[in-house]
Amino acid sequence: MKRVYIKTYGCQMNERDSEAVAAMLLRRGFALAPDEFSADAVLLNTCSVRELAESKAVGKAGHLCRLRKKSPDFLIGIMGCMAQNRGDALLTQVRGGVDLVVGTQQAHRIPEFLEELFARPNRGAPILALDAAEGSQEEIKDHLRCRPSAFISIQQGCDMRCSYCIVPKTRGRERSRSLAGIVAEATKLAEGGTKEITLLGQIVTSYGRNLYPKIGDKSPFVQLVEAVHDIEGIERVRFTSPHPHGFGPDLIDAFARLPKLCPFVHLPLQSGSNRVLKAMKRPYTRERYLEIVNALRAARPDISFCTDIIVGFPGETQEDFEQTAELFDTVKFEMAYIFKYSPRAGTPAAELTQALIPDEVMQQRNQILLEKLERYSLTANEKLVGTTQRILVEAPARKGQNIWMGFNPQHRKVLFETPPNTHPEGQLLNLKIERASAATLFGVME
Ligand code: SAH
Ligand code: SF4
Ligand code: F3S
Repeated sequence: MKRVYIKTYGCQMNERDSEAVAAMLLRRGFALAPDEFSADAVLLNTCSVRELAESKAVGKAGHLCRLRKKSPDFLIGIMGCMAQNRGDALLTQVRGGVDLVVGTQQAHRIPEFLEELFARPNRGAPILALDAAEGSQEEIKDHLRCRPSAFISIQQGCDMRCSYCIVPKTRGRERSRSLAGIVAEATKLAEGGTKEITLLGQIVTSYGRNLYPKIGDKSPFVQLVEAVHDIEGIERVRFTSPHPHGFGPDLIDAFARLPKLCPFVHLPLQSGSNRVLKAMKRPYTRERYLEIVNALRAARPDISFCTDIIVGFPGETQEDFEQTAELFDTVKFEMAYIFKYSPRAGTPAAELTQALIPDEVMQQRNQILLEKLERYSLTANEKLVGTTQRILVEAPARKGQNIWMGFNPQHRKVLFETPPNTHPEGQLLNLKIERASAATLFGVME
């Protein structure tokens, strides 16, 4: 039996795709390897969103080629966004070459490609599959197991054209899965013990806009959230990422109406300067962003916010940055992913070479926001000391120590100790919070 190791870079969409491919491989008679050394084939599921993500994966692939020396049949495949972005150039860019390059819309064919490669008597020409998908978007639906908290891809691609972003190139046009297909997947997961569903897409607020009409004021995305919310056994619903552009009153109202919809929103801001937002081609203003935040707070006073910010977009002045910092202070984000701008070939912003911000300046701005984040995250966690939090237990935190990890509705991580040989995975427990750091809460069972 051939053993395959999948290593994943990038976002939750990639994590989800890797899991679906792993499950498909098992169904086709492959085994999964825990690392590259015990594998007959390695698949790198890659990301292109920043230069560093690509260079890490290219470096890794080059290293893997050394394993071929020991076993000449060892296969190296590259899938995901960098496969789509670089295509056949990877055949020469990776030292030692690769056997398989599979784009983001052909991942469901990976078992078939590996069978073909393993059946060859000698290492032949590499297989390349970079075409757009035909037909439905239902291929990526297999799960390895029904985890307490599971992801479901509801949509692929993105039709926005944010001027810095490579994703529309790597993931293609926006395509939504059918509502019935998603509900069927969530129902099956719930029957297997899943309690929490996170709906995934690059711009989930646009979900289904070409497939379904609005019903009353409800967008297709809100219709989907309601449908998943109604599934028996599902206790929590989350989604990521929405776009401020599509965050309408129907979705804000959903937070007031739907108790299982968790009070946690990941709402990418990118910049707090209207001038920079315009240059990024993000169709909203800082004022509109704040309006959404305030409306959500009114609908759900316990809501907490997470965001994505890019510092050092070409031409970002000190004043622009201060606007971002100020907005950060106003919202008091408890979670944030802060990135230094990375030029991506082929995107409009990559042409702005005259206006590039020096790395020291980006680093400084990055640091300022990270310090704010640490402060707001710690304050939010400290407020919870002494309270009781409802936790969905996801996994052991440290092996062999009876310490488990779970999350509260606001997605704060909570660690707690159990008596030996207890397995609370998948349970919803009330924990009394005793201690807090910026990243973690420490609780005890009541
Ligand atoms: N669809 C999501 C973002 C997906 S990419 C959205 O629109 O919010 C994840 C994050 O990577 C983005 O939110 C952005 O903050 C960051 N990012 C994207 N392109 C980047 C670039 N060229 N340089 C630095 N960060 C980038
Ligand atoms: Fe990229 Fe913008 Fe689409 Fe997000 S919305 S994936 S940042 S183009
Ligand atoms: Fe990276 Fe592709 Fe996700 S570029 S961030 S893995 S969609």
